[in-house]
Amino acid sequence: MTERSARARGRLRVLLLGAGGREHALAWKLRRSASLEKLFSAPGSEAISEHAERVALDSLDPSAVTAFCGREKVGLVVVGPEAPLEAGVADALRAAGVPVFGPGKAAARLETSKAFAKDFMTRHGVPTARHQTFSSAAEARDALRSWASGVVVKADGLAQGKGVAVCADRAEALKAVSEFMEGGRLGKAGARIILEERLSGPELSVMALVSSGSMSLLPFSRDHKRLADDDEGPNTGGMGAVAPVPVGPEALRRIESEVMARVLAGLKADGLDYRGALYAGLMLTKDGPKALEFNCRFGDPEAQAVLPLLEGDFLETLLDCSLGRPLAGPVKTSGGACACVVLASEGYPEAPRTGRPISGLEAPLEEGVRVFHAGTSRGERGWVTKGGRVLGVTATAASLEEARNKAYAGVSRISFEGMRYRKDIGAATLEPARKARRAS
Ligand code: AMP
Ligand code: GLY
Repeated sequence: MTERSARARGRLRVLLLGAGGREHALAWKLRRSASLEKLFSAPGSEAISEHAERVALDSLDPSAVTAFCGREKVGLVVVGPEAPLEAGVADALRAAGVPVFGPGKAAARLETSKAFAKDFMTRHGVPTARHQTFSSAAEARDALRSWASGVVVKADGLAQGKGVAVCADRAEALKAVSEFMEGGRLGKAGARIILEERLSGPELSVMALVSSGSMSLLPFSRDHKRLADDDEGPNTGGMGAVAPVPVGPEALRRIESEVMARVLAGLKADGLDYRGALYAGLMLTKDGPKALEFNCRFGDPEAQAVLPLLEGDFLETLLDCSLGRPLAGPVKTSGGACACVVLASEGYPEAPRTGRPISGLEAPLEEGVRVFHAGTSRGERGWVTKGGRVLGVTATAASLEEARNKAYAGVSRISFEGMRYRKDIGAATLEPARKARRAS
C-alpha cells in the first residue's frame, strides 16, 4: 500500500496500539473524528472495546502488526506506549508503506535511553541538569565523593518510573547506585546509570505533535508524580494531571526557543525523521526551563487531561504527522480547562492489589465528566481492578477550579476496596492564580 492510497480512500481504518488510560482517551478522541472508518485496538482492554474492535495481535511484534495492517487495509497506526517503538514496530510499518504515528527505534532512544537523551541535549544545546554517565558501580561511587548534596540517580533504560531516585544526601545516592546497578531489580535497564544535579522548581509537561521538520505544541499540562498529597511518597507513573498550565510570556518564549526548537533542530541534524508525539518533562528553575526527560509518546495521565481540550479533526492531524506533512499552525483548543484524578490500587506502585470489584461506574456522569480506564477488566458481576492505576476521572469546565471540583465530584461516586487518590490535583497550579487575584 502506498501512503497516498491510505488518504485517497477518504475515511480511514486505524489501528491503535496500547491498553492503558492514555489509549482509552485516544480511542475516545479518534472515535469522534469524521474521517474514521473503523478503529482496531491491540492489545486494547475491555473498556477500549467500547470504541474499537479488539484484535488478537502481539503489539510488540513488528511483522505481525505489519501483516495485520496489510490484511485489514489499515491506513494509520497510532502507537500509544513506548514499548512497540522500542521493538521497532514503527520502522517496520514505515518500511511497508503504512503511515504510523510514532517515531522509529533510533529516535525513540530519546526516551528509551536516558544516557542517549542527555548526550542529545548536550550536543544540541538543550538546557538540562549537569550529569555524568557510568557503566561501573565502583566508578559511580567514586564520583559521588565529589558531588555536593542534591543528586539524582537515574537508570539508563526503561524502568517504568522505578529507575529514578531523587536523593537527599550522598548515603541515599550510594544506596540507589547499588540497587540500580547491582540489585538486579531493574535488569538491563540498570547496566548504566546517570548521576544528575538535583534541580528545583515547578514541573511542566510539554507535549508536541511532530511532523518531520515541523511541530505543533499542545496545551501545557502538569502531572503529579508522587503518590501522596503535597508531593510526598514514592514516584509513580502519575497520579493526576491538569491542563492548560499557564506560564508567563518569558518562560513560554524560552520553552519554545531554547527547548523545543533546539530539539527539532537536533533531530534534523542527527538525521532522525521524527513523526509522532514528543513529550518534554521540564523543570521551571530560577535559571529558566530545563529538560528532565523526553518521552516519545503522549504522557499518561497528561493525555487524559489534554485530549478533551483539542478541537478539529484529531485523526487528520495525526495522519498529517505520520506522512511528514507540514503542520498547519497550532492545534486548536476549546478554551476552558481539564483535570484528571487517578484512582489507584492499594499497594501501588510497589505491589498493587487487584481483582477488587469497582462500584459506581454505571451511574450517569455529569456533563463534561469522563472516566478513562487504565487498569480494569469486566468480570461476571461488573468491573474489577486489574492494575496499579485503575481509573482516570476527567472533567472539563470553563475554569481549572470548576474542572477540578467536577472531577472530584465524579471521584466521590466511585469506590473499590483500598482505592487511593490524591486530593490536591491541580492545587499548586491554581495557587499562583489565587495569589494574583488576592494581590489585585
Ligand atoms: P524522569 O523520569 O527523568 O522525568 O524523572 C522522574 C521524576 O523525578 C521527575 O518528574 C522529577 O520529579 C524527578 N526528577 C528527575 N530529574 C530530576 C532532577 N535533575 N532534579 C530534581 N528532580 C528530578
Ligand atoms: N506522566 C508521565 C509519563 O507519561 O511519563
